[in-house]
Amino acid sequence: MTRYPEILACLQPLLHEQKFHWLVTGAAGFIGSHLTEALLSLGQKVTGLDNFCTGYQRNLDSALKESGRGENFSFVEGSITEIDSCREAMSKGVDFVLHHAALASVPASLKDPVEYEKVNSLGFVNILQVAREFKIKRVVYATSSAVYGDNETMPKVEDEIGKFLSPYAMTKYMNEICAEFFTRVYGLECTGLRYLMSLAGGRIPTEHMRLSFRDGFQR
Ligand SMILES: NC(=O)c1ccc[n+]([C@@H]2O[C@H](COP(=O)([O-])OP(=O)(O)OC[C@H]3O[C@@H](n4cnc5c(N)ncnc54)[C@H](O)[C@@H]3O)[C@@H](O)[C@H]2O)c1
Repeated sequence: MTRYPEILACLQPLLHEQKFHWLVTGAAGFIGSHLTEALLSLGQKVTGLDNFCTGYQRNLDSALKESGRGENFSFVEGSITEIDSCREAMSKGVDFVLHHAALASVPASLKDPVEYEKVNSLGFVNILQVAREFKIKRVVYATSSAVYGDNETMPKVEDEIGKFLSPYAMTKYMNEICAEFFTRVYGLECTGLRYLMSLAGGRIPTEHMRLSFRDGFQR
């Protein structure tokens, strides 16, 4: 397991030398707010994009306060399903996109697959398309261990996935397929991270996340 302090220690010398502008989508969420805090702490410039559908203003407030560098943060309140919000968020010289905005509950996706498709799949294509338009250096995006589906092989092998167990998992796999396409056909550099139960610090996880832990669902 890779630990957050170890990653930070590797990044510190690199990022203290170079200042970049990062777009963190889902910045008011659990992972996005920690990324925002870490980048600001390293002297980076950050724009956040979030519509607060499952995220919290207090996560953002805490990230800015803990970093001590709130002046390097700007925020666009909007949805990734609206391409103009994506454009607004990437329009001011963004170098890298860390895409974490998504609906992230397995049980909720089983109840409303259409909404999950709209936000997680259409929203993702919007992000990729706008990243192309603005010649973003790289899009790093959150996919999920949920794409392994019912494949129980351990340790996990990236290409060995099973049958999907939720619409959420399908949307995350679609993200991986779209990213591969945008890289191969348009030359947009993309990296997907298949997160599994990420935990850090004392910030508030969303209700979705609390329910996922309680019910033992794979995310
Ligand atoms: N936390 C985990 O253990 C875990 C595991 C696997 C994958 N992931 C993925 O990592 C990412 C972040 O997860 P998290 O735990 O921080 O979730 P989270 O729910 O705390 O954060 C997601 C953020 O995205 C925002 N958002 C949702 N829909 C949006 C939209 N249409 N437009 C703009 N913003 C929108 C929410 O308001 C929220 O702030 C998600 O893509 C999730 O699927 C997380």
